[in-house]
Amino acid sequence: METQLIANTYQFLLNGEWRESASCKTIENLSPSDRKPVGAIQAMTEREANLAVIGAKAAQKDWANFSFSERAELLYAWADQLLEMKEELAETIMKEVGKGYSSAEKEVVRTADFIKYTAEEGKRIHGELINGGSFNAGSANKLAMVQREPLGVVLAISPFNYPVNLSASKIAPALIAGNAVVFKPATQGAISGTLMIKALDKAGLPSGLVNLVTGKGSEVGDYLTTHPSIDLINFTGGTETGEYISKKASMIPVILELGGKDPALVLNDADLEKAAKDIVAGGFSYSGQRCTAIKRVLVTDEVAEALVAKLKTEIEALKVGMPEDDAAVTPLINEKAADFVQHLVDDAVGKGATPLTAIKREGNLVFPVLLDNVTTDMAIAWEEPFGPVLPIIRVENIEEAVTIANESKYGLQASVFTKNTEEAIRISNKLEVGSVQINGKTERGPDHFPFIGVKGSGLGVQGIRKSIESVTREKVTVLNMS
Ligand code: G3H
Repeated sequence: METQLIANTYQFLLNGEWRESASCKTIENLSPSDRKPVGAIQAMTEREANLAVIGAKAAQKDWANFSFSERAELLYAWADQLLEMKEELAETIMKEVGKGYSSAEKEVVRTADFIKYTAEEGKRIHGELINGGSFNAGSANKLAMVQREPLGVVLAISPFNYPVNLSASKIAPALIAGNAVVFKPATQGAISGTLMIKALDKAGLPSGLVNLVTGKGSEVGDYLTTHPSIDLINFTGGTETGEYISKKASMIPVILELGGKDPALVLNDADLEKAAKDIVAGGFSYSGQRCTAIKRVLVTDEVAEALVAKLKTEIEALKVGMPEDDAAVTPLINEKAADFVQHLVDDAVGKGATPLTAIKREGNLVFPVLLDNVTTDMAIAWEEPFGPVLPIIRVENIEEAVTIANESKYGLQASVFTKNTEEAIRISNKLEVGSVQINGKTERGPDHFPFIGVKGSGLGVQGIRKSIESVTREKVTVLNMS
């Protein structure tokens, strides 16, 4: 089966067939770095999106009857196909979303590892037996068998920034648990997503088990999220869209991985050298276009000067340029994203923040910015730039840092840098976030750790085991013994 009908025009997968849309419309994706076309995806109609859901619903019935090991075989084969296509996928990710080549390659390898681990973990999912006698005397003859069963059809909506990894991390747990999937990738990233599905198809995907829907979210998104045959929505993207989806998805469970404003809290006794390296790696990899990027530094006055000097040195050493040159800081996904970062920087500087690096922009390429003396009246103290800018907020003491950290509408992760582990745990207990990294940068991986966003950062828990559990429900069968 072939995904490409003509060069660089990609088809969608519907019930085992690669097809073009009856809309006769395609959407051309340009590379964020040179604005050259990467390829075009189909702008599907609501009717086609409906067929994708109906087909997935039908395919799920058979798939749920397969054993865990049989389902795992498909995932192993998928992982192998992805690795075989590693260069093609990495090249496509690089061009389509402007990610440095080696990061793009790592994304593919990480995804294959993720899928293999999911296959293994799925085989270990089991239920429990509960004896009724432990509650009251009248129930001693009851035995509850609690099993996990699939939810049905999972709608997986992935973002642009990890077009392969954050798609597979929704699809693989759903499949191992016996669900079918309707996969709607972000438009920018949909070509990478399509190639990933091509790998799954080559691996022996049963017809209809994963159907691919491409097109503008504004055209097919609402239709899918309110479709009566969708049983769970797993979305990664902006907080505003996540909130909108959760309102629309009335009575349907949702897993939402949304924005963040992850703070790094740096205490007086921190190893500043290590803190600076980790903060810069956490803040600037893929140009800060990660929900888990470090997006503000809260540092006590006592060590602020020393830390800021080290951050500046690290930032100045970052490679800025094109993804093809494997730069760390590359052009942002689009003009609008670069405009937003520029607006935040201009606002902060206008209100008295001190830029410690040159403020420079070439098209979508925003050069890394270190902003000192940021105060809480500046938008950059609260907004998520999703770009290469690091605000420094100097604080009198760590209590003030915790207060500012918690005043955010987001609650994804936080880093605490200190040599005093007990103090780090005390601070961790006060931080309103899903995860706290002690002496390390904020990040989602390793992928079997639970990954949680609180407040505006999300709903539900991911991380391989948790992701599998999230796409199942418990079913209780009670045996009443005579
Ligand atoms: O953008 C959101 C991603 O889940 C972040 O993943 O921490 O591995 O870069 P990462």
